Amino acid sequence: MKGLVLAGGLATRLRPLTLVTNKHLLPVYNKPMIYFPILSLINAGVKEILISTSPDHAGRFAELLKGGSDFGAKFYYSIQDNPKGGIANAIGLAKEFADNEKLAVVLGDNIFSYNLKPAIDRFRKREKGAVIFGIRMSKMESKHYGVVEIDSSGKVISIEEKPLKPKSDIAQSGIYFYDNRVFDFIKKLKPSDRGELEVTDLNNFYLKEGSLECDLLDWWIDAGTSHSELLRANNLVAEKVKAGEL
Ligand code: G1P
Repeated sequence: MKGLVLAGGLATRLRPLTLVTNKHLLPVYNKPMIYFPILSLINAGVKEILISTSPDHAGRFAELLKGGSDFGAKFYYSIQDNPKGGIANAIGLAKEFADNEKLAVVLGDNIFSYNLKPAIDRFRKREKGAVIFGIRMSKMESKHYGVVEIDSSGKVISIEEKPLKPKSDIAQSGIYFYDNRVFDFIKKLKPSDRGELEVTDLNNFYLKEGSLECDLLDWWIDAGTSHSELLRANNLVAEKVKAGEL
């Protein structure tokens, strides 16, 4: 199983902080933002990680993270030329890197303390399928994300991207595990109204064939959505680090 951390995009919502740097390099309490998703993968035993970023500031990632030996891992780098291609487009660029293995994807601004290891160990043994990770919040908030509807046994019934009327209070986080067929599914995707290849459309391929599972996180923060979320991430991480939870 290989890891992919997506750290591209223009981060216009965080300007002027992101005028001369990439948002994933901004500090979150005691570390650059991208350390958090990378460490989540490494702590779960995923030691070969592709860091996908945009052409601007790409060299900064190599300066910061180098080859991975400081982390006991091996890092690779790739460039997403089109920063507006969408998450599924960025995942598609990892085909050669993934080779024939499964892939664990984490968005570079996602911070959580959930231990991914048991889920990764289970997923390694599965023949096929995908896993997404949800987080409960109010419906007022969940409608700003992919919204995941599950039944009482935890089976996924639907996922909708930023629906006007959310069917549940569970938002789709930016953590996804895929079997190697993900690259075939990505080829079938069409751009959405916002012009992106959507991760929600991708996950719906797995949902339709009944091979999509959803685990729930206890807390999660998407640090890159706004200045106030970045501040909240800093405060939350400070609290968790001091409590020894992160
Ligand atoms: C993307 C996905 C969305 C998911 C979110 C998690 O949204 O499209 O389904 O809930 O990441 O951060 P975006 O940040 O591209 O609007």
